[in-house]
Amino acid sequence: MSGLVTVDARIVGALREARRVVILTGAGVSAESGVPTFRDQQTGLWKTFDAAELATPSAFRRDPSLVWGWYEWRRATVLAARPNAAHRAIAAMSEFVPHCTLITQNVDDLHERAGSVGVLHLHGELSRPYCEACRRSYVLPEGIPDLPPGGARIEPPRCDACGAMIRPGVVWFGENLPDVAWRSACEAANRCDMFFCCGTSSVVQPAASLTDLAIAARATTVQINPNATGYDDSVTVAIQGLAGIVLPRIVAETWKSA
Ligand code: APR
Repeated sequence: MSGLVTVDARIVGALREARRVVILTGAGVSAESGVPTFRDQQTGLWKTFDAAELATPSAFRRDPSLVWGWYEWRRATVLAARPNAAHRAIAAMSEFVPHCTLITQNVDDLHERAGSVGVLHLHGELSRPYCEACRRSYVLPEGIPDLPPGGARIEPPRCDACGAMIRPGVVWFGENLPDVAWRSACEAANRCDMFFCCGTSSVVQPAASLTDLAIAARATTVQINPNATGYDDSVTVAIQGLAGIVLPRIVAETWKSA
């Protein structure tokens, strides 16, 4: 693990040669935009809950207004947030490399707002709620939900077609990932020659296993995280730093003459 003074030459060298780059992001990439990560202590109405408790079908069945309220609070936080330098560096990177696949565990749209296209959302999107019964998409009202600072319980809206509850458009624990996104992510990791895992604790499966696929594919693998993860000793380079500082430096150093 290296404190970052200059960008490791192995990264610059590999990135300049790379034809197929995969970037896997987690909550840490949106942290510098003010969006709390999952392992951060919850606040307000939810401070007594572990995020993993709230992000389950059983929690929604048990207390739908608590869970819907939490996701509306998170959606309000994301709508008020702006992409940070990490999101922008990732969007820039995709301009320089022939094939760049961006895979995210994040349910926000900050990558897209930074200019990234074709983002593979493995855990769904806050902006895509749907009916829990007939799965019809639900169109959210425009604008930032007007919520009290600590959040509030909010009854989920009802489906216009079948009257069932609308649920958040995210993948909850115990649910399957979207099939097309997951298969595309695996294929990209299996074929890449460079792989970045940024701002993820790498504990949630199957997303975390994408790093194993890239390692098995003998790609140059780079982890960016201020804290240790289970991949510190198995990636090519583990950088202990903030994504919003490290990624722009990597882009600048690699393509400074571009
Ligand atoms: N830059 C880079 N990494 C950061 C930053 C930052 N500025 N700030 C925090 N981190 C790191 C933390 O050290 C932590 O390892 O980001 C990681 C965030 O970890 P989690 O909160 O576990 O988020 P993530 O890995 O995305 O969680 C995966 O778990 O709860 C589910 O579905 C949810 O998508 C989520 C999944």
